[in-house]
Amino acid sequence: MASLIEIRNMCKIYNPGENEVRALDHVSLSIGENEFVAIIGHSGSGKSTLMNMLGCLDVPTSGIYLLHGSDVSLLTDDELSDIRNQEIGFIFQGFNLISNLTAFENVELPLIYRGVSKRERTHLAKEALRKVGLENRMTHKPSEMSGGQQQRVAIARAIAQAPPVILADEPTGNLDSHSSQEIMNILKTLHAEGRTVIVITHDNDIAANAKRIIHIEDGRITSDSANEGLSREDIAEEIRGNSTMYESNKESSSEAPELNQTEEIEPTYEPSADDYDLEINDNNIDLHLMNGENQNEQEE
Ligand SMILES: Nc1ncnc2c1ncn2[C@@H]1O[C@H](COP(=O)(O)OP(=O)(O)OP(=O)(O)O)[C@@H](O)[C@H]1O
Ligand SMILES: [Mg+2]
Repeated sequence: MASLIEIRNMCKIYNPGENEVRALDHVSLSIGENEFVAIIGHSGSGKSTLMNMLGCLDVPTSGIYLLHGSDVSLLTDDELSDIRNQEIGFIFQGFNLISNLTAFENVELPLIYRGVSKRERTHLAKEALRKVGLENRMTHKPSEMSGGQQQRVAIARAIAQAPPVILADEPTGNLDSHSSQEIMNILKTLHAEGRTVIVITHDNDIAANAKRIIHIEDGRITSDSANEGLSREDIAEEIRGNSTMYESNKESSSEAPELNQTEEIEPTYEPSADDYDLEINDNNIDLHLMNGENQNEQEE
């Protein structure tokens, strides 16, 4: 069976020249349909860079990305927009909700931009909010909800049009352990329904929910293994031992990851409607919420 995602020898170099940063260093990876993958690694290891590539939000410096067997670098901007809009649901750490809109309106907004009829988008938004257990919070604004509830609104927004692929970058990074587990249960359900779920996380407990764990360090994959009921300790051990179930493209790092990494949590990003990158061409509407740190990249 052809892979959903096939990456070969991908490199991403920011600021080529003297101060260049090699954020991805010859990464090769394939992910099949309906996999549930966690990508873990220290801060700065290249996780978000990889996610931006997977989500067609940025382009690699070199290497190949085949999505459904098509070389992404050969697609037109319109075709890439279609992929982002129809194939991928994005979930970010900072929720990226619009503060003066209700939960319902936040979920509905991308559907408006995509030209979905009022009747259909009301149905889709309500159904998505019901799915994440927020049927009683539809008229609440983000400031009237807990962090976990806000992230569930963001998930409802991502899944309203049932994209086959869910890409989540630190979806539980700003949440307590109870809310984190709720979010993971939702992601597990989405996987059980047949979607491909790719979640980026620092947290080994969160990674333990996935069926496959990829560890990235200094822009290279250092281990890639099936997760058959591993505990967080097993995962740390797995990373130390450089599991070989899937091909790895780097020698094992001798340094074990810390189990309880403390991470400086960025303040919650409060976007406005202007933060939506909206391109309307004749037949094509491209809407994606700019993720603060990538904004400059995408504007190039
Ligand atoms: N736009 C950019 N310009 C220059 N360097 C960048 C840019 N974005 C990321 N980097 C650098 O690339 C490397 C990988 O960054 P990336 O954001 O992918 O890490 P990460 O694993 O997601 O980290 P974190 O866990 O802190 O989110 C880092 O060294 C980072 O400083
Ligand atoms: Mg990141």
